[in-house]
Amino acid sequence: MNAIEIRDLSKSFRGMYAVDHLNMTVPRGAIYGFIGENGSGKSTTEKLICGHLVPDGGSIRLFGRDYTDPGVRARVGALIENTGCFPGSSVYQNLRMQTINLGLENPDAEIDRVLKIVRMEDSAHIKFKSCSLGMKQRIGIAMAILGDPALLILDEPINGLDTDGMRIMREILVDITKNYGCTVLISSHILGELEKIATHYGIIRRGKLVAELSAAELEGRSRVFVSVKARDMQRAHEALRSKYPNVRVEGEYIRVCDVNEPEEIVDFLLRGGHALYEVKKNRVGLEEYYVELMSKGGSAK
Ligand SMILES: Nc1ncnc2c1ncn2[C@@H]1O[C@H](COP(=O)(O)OP(=O)(O)O)[C@@H](O)[C@H]1O
Ligand SMILES: [Mg+2]
Repeated sequence: MNAIEIRDLSKSFRGMYAVDHLNMTVPRGAIYGFIGENGSGKSTTEKLICGHLVPDGGSIRLFGRDYTDPGVRARVGALIENTGCFPGSSVYQNLRMQTINLGLENPDAEIDRVLKIVRMEDSAHIKFKSCSLGMKQRIGIAMAILGDPALLILDEPINGLDTDGMRIMREILVDITKNYGCTVLISSHILGELEKIATHYGIIRRGKLVAELSAAELEGRSRVFVSVKARDMQRAHEALRSKYPNVRVEGEYIRVCDVNEPEEIVDFLLRGGHALYEVKKNRVGLEEYYVELMSKGGSAK
């Protein structure tokens, strides 16, 4: 059973589709990276799943049930746009109000639990407005995971965070999925960060999901390339082009694509009398996959 199954979902504003017959499948236990340019429909999709907007058509199923089913709604936590916290209230007071809204039993134990997860157990009495951006985002996560939801929906939660803030956020999200069995849908355009934790990806363009694949599938598709720095770059470039079909200059390196063994290239160049400064083996990652997909107009084929 999947955590989210969306079929043919549409939502338009003033006659323009923000979400256009979108299909999407998020497996249980996944950290699903939801990727797309500004205005492609990520936030709208997430708001539809959360019931903040009413769709024009299509279906959303969460854990095998219709998304409007009250039993399933209680299992969804979200952080979309802002945390909804009162700036003048403390972290604890904000969480306490949310436990009342949700009607949770043993609120103090639950508040302790979520504060530990977001590593803010020592900051409960700080006023929300005095918290750093990184802390505010973690409080947003804490608010969203009160009541131990099975699905957590996050809209660009790492925007504006510094390196340390992003690392802590990554660790928190991995902790929530590994140790609490939560499924996470996270939109972001910071692909390098997403790639460190995501198990699945969905790429949205103009309201349509144009690619959906697991991290393992991305790994399998991603081609290996070799970057070469030689003393005589022009001569090395010409030699490589005469032997390999896919060679181009990228910055200060010559990039030879679709090669499995860098040794083969080293061998070839040394035999040709080229002096080499550097040879690196790389793999095309999420960023390159995304850029290539977008340059083809968003078709995965
Ligand atoms: N409440 C709204 N009213 C009118 N247009 C909207 C509204 N919300 C989103 N849109 C439009 O829908 C499209 C998708 O927006 P959004 O889902 O916010 O994209 P993303 O989150 O990927 O940046 C954009 O063209 C945006 O201008
Ligand atoms: Mg958005």
